[in-house]
Amino acid sequence: DMRIGILTSGGDAPGLNAVIRGAVLTGSQTGTADFVGFRDGWRGLVEEDLLPLGRHEVKGISKQGGTIIGTSRTNPFEGIGGVDRVNEVMKRNGIDAIMAIGGEGTLAAAKRLTDAGVPIVGVPKTVDNDLGATDYSFGFDTAVGIATDAMDRLRTTGDSHGRCMVAEVMGRHVGWIALHSGMAAGAHVILIPERKTSFAQITEWVTSAKDRGRAPLVVVAEGFALDNMSDAHSERGLDTFGRPRLGGIGEMIAPMIEDATGIETRATTLGHIQRGGTPSAFDRVLATRLGMAALQCALDENWGHMVALQRTNIVSVPFAEALGKLNTVPDDRYDEARVLFG
Ligand code: F6P
Repeated sequence: DMRIGILTSGGDAPGLNAVIRGAVLTGSQTGTADFVGFRDGWRGLVEEDLLPLGRHEVKGISKQGGTIIGTSRTNPFEGIGGVDRVNEVMKRNGIDAIMAIGGEGTLAAAKRLTDAGVPIVGVPKTVDNDLGATDYSFGFDTAVGIATDAMDRLRTTGDSHGRCMVAEVMGRHVGWIALHSGMAAGAHVILIPERKTSFAQITEWVTSAKDRGRAPLVVVAEGFALDNMSDAHSERGLDTFGRPRLGGIGEMIAPMIEDATGIETRATTLGHIQRGGTPSAFDRVLATRLGMAALQCALDENWGHMVALQRTNIVSVPFAEALGKLNTVPDDRYDEARVLFG
């Protein structure tokens, strides 16, 4: 049977363990493959830091957040890494193939290694849902659920005080988490990196919500920049007391909204809470299916391919097809949500 080395790399996402379990259990049930883990992503591979990964190790882990094999942002081409080193470690440990679970950076490294002849299959991972070729990635649904729950809570305290509440959610390049959690929570303003809007428009939405007796809820993706607002450049980087701001965009716009509208405003940055804890049922199922399909991809020697969700099917696509194609929020999806703003 095939011996596969599995690694998780980049920021973690709820569901990583379910991918590992899906692959390991299927390999063992069908007698087609066995696995070892590389600790902390590519680091474990280039430093030859391996751990056993059998039925016993994956027992009950699909409900656990994080990754039992650890992750890091190590680049396999840096330091002692490189193609020769990877081949050497694989050969010495009898490893036939690598299953790399990671985002854009991880898959780009995987592609480079595959182009140099290393047998690799990939599994896309991003809570931000920003990778091309896959409709949804595991971890996204969990993050949206956590963010929605947080906003429901912000609403009750906001209502009690008649305050405007600003919630900053994850999303470095794309606004999927902001769009979905904002829509689910009934936000009055959703701000995403893909779209420009004026600060005047934002305060109009906030004021109109307040006028209708609502505590305005503003959801902003961390990647939304001051540059996304045509008329707010002068406020860059300074708080209401003229001090440099250390916080993110949520912390930055809250005092601006308060100053402009006269409505007391508070900001909350949800941060890594969105990536922690138990994955939703949807993410567990998606992740498990992706793990099973990635194993099949390896057994088929479909090197340089990653698995992906398209409609409700798991398919395999070449790395090149997924890389460099940011999955952004389409204009019509934003405009649809925008109808309910204000
Ligand atoms: O890409 C996922 C993500 O959670 C982004 O939303 C966020 O910008 C980044 O990772 C945070 O990275 P780190 O965990 O390294 O602080």
